[in-house]
Amino acid sequence: MKLFEIGSLTMDNPVVSAPMAGISDKAFRVLAREMGCGLVWTEMISDQALVFGNRKTEQLLNIEGEYPVCVQLFGSKPETLTRAARMAVERGADLIDINMGCPTPKIVKNCGGAALMKDPESAARIVAAVVGAVGVPVTVKIRKGWDEDYPDAVEFARLAEASGASAVTVHGRFRGEFFSGQADWSIIRKVKETVNIPVIGNGDVWTGADARRMLDETGCDGVMIGRAARGNPWIYRDAVHFLRTGEQLPPPTPEERVEMALRHFDLLLEFKGEHTAVLEMRKHAAWYTRGMRGGARLRERLHAADSPGAMREIIRSVVLKQSGPD
Ligand SMILES: Cc1cc2nc3c(=O)[nH]c(=O)nc-3n(C[C@H](O)[C@H](O)[C@H](O)COP(=O)(O)O)c2cc1C
Repeated sequence: MKLFEIGSLTMDNPVVSAPMAGISDKAFRVLAREMGCGLVWTEMISDQALVFGNRKTEQLLNIEGEYPVCVQLFGSKPETLTRAARMAVERGADLIDINMGCPTPKIVKNCGGAALMKDPESAARIVAAVVGAVGVPVTVKIRKGWDEDYPDAVEFARLAEASGASAVTVHGRFRGEFFSGQADWSIIRKVKETVNIPVIGNGDVWTGADARRMLDETGCDGVMIGRAARGNPWIYRDAVHFLRTGEQLPPPTPEERVEMALRHFDLLLEFKGEHTAVLEMRKHAAWYTRGMRGGARLRERLHAADSPGAMREIIRSVVLKQSGPD
């Protein structure tokens, strides 16, 4: 398997974890890295909130000890984005990514995220400003386009490259599609055929075999995986293994899933404290136990879990269910 390079940065493999608000926090990234992910991405971070010293936002920038790590910023103004990018680099960011794909109304209303795909001139100014402000590679994450009436990812990626971007990630859906339907990988191939910077393909990679197929069908340099990793950090190990050997690894056992959920919880406790860890673990535990016997009942009980002890006990009870009566 080829090494994966973005600007001056070299990764062992081309498997990349996706930025996911509310999910790809430090605990998630630690597990993704342990599972062999070549590069991990933070959740999107508001440039304004960072610059104005919002404490919660600051915590999203806890990237100490992580390498290589990409910090994703969102915003719409070169001045604040450059300041936020410098702060991220001071904290140890190895890459800065600018979010130009988020479809959420709250973000696009403020001209950030995917709204920038409607305004290529502003987008180009932002990329050039951030590239000029930091000494690490700068990348952009885009969608297929805003809609058919605006420049598509091909045109947009060309502009990003001309403005100094070191790589581009393409999620093959229009803004209005959010996550519906099937991601269009042909747009990833078209972008790859057009630009000379590395292209990371994204959208609907659910298995190691999908990762192989995306690389083969689009020629992209890296594969970004998001939703498949919810409650399933093994997807990164599977993708790396499949790319190396062409073999599909067996899925984790129920015991392994429960062990991983407990470890995820311990990391959340370490990084976020009891209150937040318990609240956030509810959704992770539901994902880890999806499809397991006792999972549905467990999800009901999870909502009542109000302490680390209760959370652990509920998660462990799922393993017992696998061997006991229904
Ligand atoms: C809950 C959730 C949060 C997300 N947050 C972000 C984000 O902060 N920044 C971003 O660029 N994309 C975000 N995305 C989009 C993912 O990075 C990715 O582009 C998308 O999920 C498609 O990849 P997948 O099919 O592998 O999930 C998010 C997606 C989900 C499901």
